[in-house]
Amino acid sequence: MTSSKIRINIVVIAILAVIAILVCISVTMLFLHIYRERITPTPTEGMTIVNRTVVLLPYPKIRTNVISIEQALAYRRSIREYTSEPITLEQLSQLLWAAYGINEVRYGFKTCPSAGATYPLVIYVVVGEKTVLINRTAYLRAGIYKYDPYTHSLILVKEGDYRKELAKAALGQKWVEEAAIDIVIMAIYERTTRVYGERGIRYVHMEVGHAGQNIYLEATALGLGTVVVGAFYDDWVQKIVGASPNEKPLYIIPVGVPVKPYRITEEEIAKYIEEQRKAAGLIS
Ligand SMILES: Cc1cc2nc3c(=O)[nH]c(=O)nc-3n(C[C@H](O)[C@H](O)[C@H](O)COP(=O)(O)O)c2cc1C
Repeated sequence: MTSSKIRINIVVIAILAVIAILVCISVTMLFLHIYRERITPTPTEGMTIVNRTVVLLPYPKIRTNVISIEQALAYRRSIREYTSEPITLEQLSQLLWAAYGINEVRYGFKTCPSAGATYPLVIYVVVGEKTVLINRTAYLRAGIYKYDPYTHSLILVKEGDYRKELAKAALGQKWVEEAAIDIVIMAIYERTTRVYGERGIRYVHMEVGHAGQNIYLEATALGLGTVVVGAFYDDWVQKIVGASPNEKPLYIIPVGVPVKPYRITEEEIAKYIEEQRKAAGLIS
């Protein structure tokens, strides 16, 4: 090869390298732009930051001086009657964190136990018109949101109040329509069955029970009412929520301000147990 040919080759390679670098930079810039577009927050007030597509929830609070775990267990009840009052964004934040939030920062483990930490659950929230109050001045836009536990944020899937349609898909259970919000827990079974095979199916069902109970207890601690709903048409719920085909609905969990919170005393529980013991002939 002549020296002039070598020089031409070097120039061509240099030009191609520059083009490749420019393409890489452009693609990176494009991704950064899209990313920034998605997460650039529009502050409302205080710590609450709301964006066109992403809502950064207030950080989870580990509250002290609230009701004890025994009180939460004693006062937990399925509550199906709610007032028309909104819940707050802080309450929604606490409920989602309780359900499936991060409580371990090395591996991103969660409040909910999970077989092999495979975390198959995906959580959506159906928000009604003016049902979630932000800083006492504004409302979270009605819509369907997907919860991201890692950034503790909500991603808007679609706008609009879908509670009525969701209630229809739940065989007309009116508490689904009347609640301020409905938490919809879906599962991607493959995340767990990939590791455990068929047995993973039962693990997924156990896990949704844990998440559901977490929501019951947190709602009770917040003075809210809730009930887990298992009766609904799967395909219809999936369609309303805008879930992907591998996300299967397991629970709809309405939450609202209860018309009447449930209460019981230690004495009432002790009296009941005593009567049962007598009836069983264990004591006289
Ligand atoms: C798997 C499962 C499915 C349920 N499905 C519904 C439902 O579709 N609608 C409803 O109103 N309650 C539903 N419930 C709530 C039960 O009716 C309720 O837990 C039961 O009556 C006991 O009342 P308690 O939760 O107040 O102790 C369901 C509970 C479980 C565990």
